[in-house]
Amino acid sequence: MNFLQKWPEPVVPVQHLSDTGIRVIPGRYVKKPSERPSNVESAVSDINIPVIDLHELYSEDQLLSQRAASLIDSACREWGFFQVVNHGVSHDLMVRTREAWREFFHLPMEEKKKYANSPSTYEGYGSRLGVEKGISLDWNDYFFLHYLPMAIRDRKKWPALPVSCRELIEKYSEEVVKLGEKLMKILSVNLGLRENYLSEAFGGDDNGACLRVNYYPKCPQPDLTLGISPHSDPGSMTLLYPDENVSGLQVRHGTIWLTVNPLPNAFIINLGDQLQVVSKGKYRSVEHRVIVNSVKERVSLAFFYNPRGEMPIKPAEELVSEEHPALYPCMTFDEYRLYIRKRGPSGKIQVESLKSHP
Ligand code: OGA
Ligand code: NI
Repeated sequence: MNFLQKWPEPVVPVQHLSDTGIRVIPGRYVKKPSERPSNVESAVSDINIPVIDLHELYSEDQLLSQRAASLIDSACREWGFFQVVNHGVSHDLMVRTREAWREFFHLPMEEKKKYANSPSTYEGYGSRLGVEKGISLDWNDYFFLHYLPMAIRDRKKWPALPVSCRELIEKYSEEVVKLGEKLMKILSVNLGLRENYLSEAFGGDDNGACLRVNYYPKCPQPDLTLGISPHSDPGSMTLLYPDENVSGLQVRHGTIWLTVNPLPNAFIINLGDQLQVVSKGKYRSVEHRVIVNSVKERVSLAFFYNPRGEMPIKPAEELVSEEHPALYPCMTFDEYRLYIRKRGPSGKIQVESLKSHP
């Protein structure tokens, strides 16, 4: 992966631009008119993505639990996105973890720059996705770290400040992984597969899990740019803890971009490209993007559940027959994710381009 050793240009944290009080954003952040948040295709509407009460799913009442399972199934088919409440992750831990990260982003730049990342692994503090020179940039700084597999977890690469940060990351991730495992079981059963199918297909105990903490500073011209350009997440499933006080995430639903209204203490779950491949398109990853604003910063924690890097991923054999061909080729996740790492967010181009048309 030699081409990924260094960024092609000096990286300027967006927070730095925001803090200098500029009124006009640099040209590299200005999107083409058709890609701006306010283009005519976009609409903010009252519809929200489905909300699932996980408490109901585990209820003794069979009717209630079946209803919850089928709500998840239709959310996966129709939206690729849903929110979960009563999910078992401690609310207090969620808030403390997010606020510790906010503190990190408010540390002096010299402190954060100690963790400056490179495109070889993306681990650390960064502001850029994609290594092509002259690429369009998003209004976002982030911190990216590996939690699983255990063999590549390295706490020394996580922020040492604020002092509670490393411990909170560990506790938070441990609980989020438990929630992720529960959801993988539900999705497997909903797809007509064995309960452990998806978890095993993605590498079992050796699957990957990464945390990307996004920081979106205030932006003087929010109508011209995006916090993250349209993309689908490359991995299996994402558990997003957004800033409840500031909306920003938009989900593509047909031809419109819908602004998600985050519920307090909920997780926003979305399916990644690898789930689309394994489920042979029964479930689909869905494009999403982030808009920014001029009044409030926003912090979000995106926990990515990923296949183990060397694991070949292919459509579930149970879903493939002569009449219903596999549609997607077999590929490892390490190979798959090079695309987004090189090119940056590119809608759903990658997963769609793999598809064969029988
Ligand atoms: C991501 C992402 C959404 C958000 O990090 O992949 O889509 O609301 N984040 O920050
Ligand atoms: Ni995403």
